[in-house]
Amino acid sequence: MKIPDANTTFPLEHYNKLCYLKNIIKNPNIIVGDYTYYDDFEDVQSFENNVKYHFDFIGDKLIIGKFCMIASGVTFIMNGGNHLTDAITTYPFAIFGGDWQNAMDGKSYPTKGDTIIGNDVWIGHDATIMPGVTIGDGAIIATKSVVTKDVEPYSVVGGNPAKAIRKRFDDDKINQLLELQWWHWSIEKITKNVQLLTGNDLGELME
Ligand SMILES: CC(C)(COP(=O)(O)OP(=O)(O)OC[C@H]1O[C@@H](n2cnc3c(N)ncnc32)[C@H](O)[C@@H]1OP(=O)(O)O)[C@@H](O)C(=O)NCCC(=O)NCCS
Repeated sequence: MKIPDANTTFPLEHYNKLCYLKNIIKNPNIIVGDYTYYDDFEDVQSFENNVKYHFDFIGDKLIIGKFCMIASGVTFIMNGGNHLTDAITTYPFAIFGGDWQNAMDGKSYPTKGDTIIGNDVWIGHDATIMPGVTIGDGAIIATKSVVTKDVEPYSVVGGNPAKAIRKRFDDDKINQLLELQWWHWSIEKITKNVQLLTGNDLGELME
């Protein structure tokens, strides 16, 4: 068996604009599963620059599952980008210090928690994912979407704000796929089944 190695940074020979993402991540608050790839028209190292407002002192995490496909220009907005929204001003006086330094005493900036991307999720070119969003397994995010709310597994969403376009399969099939979780199989078992995984006969795959 000759199986592509998840620990390779550049799995395509002679091509360095697509990487297995986990191998270039330095930030411990970004966690990426095996075989998830990122392609970038310029330089794959810019992935972490596209995770915006991601500050250690907030500690929010970007968690991405296995076998996801992340296109060039995809941006994740994290919680460090939040200003007060229910105060008289959104201006962040305290960060400038001096006699403004105590302006935030007893208050805190709003936070929406971790951003969680499931497994086998395809995120189209230039999409933006807002803080605290969970995207279910098998979902597709259309080009240039702005995802502001959680996305159901195996659904296709698009637009700004991203809305449901359609489900990829009927509910029965979606439930079976969510139970199957093929992405957690051994890589040998996945390899034996790549023909079936790229078809649409779930019955045959489950045998
Ligand atoms: C989401 C996507 C897969 C849908 O493809 P599809 O199933 O062939 O769907 P269609 O083109 O038939 O469009 C279905 C509906 O979605 C809408 N739609 C498609 N792309 C959209 C987008 N980027 N934003 C908003 N709506 C979109 C269409 O207008 C259509 O709406 P309608 O039902 O009201 O007529 C495709 O449009 C897409 O965005 N692919 C990502 C491509 C990409 O960025 N690749 C990066 C390299 S990997």
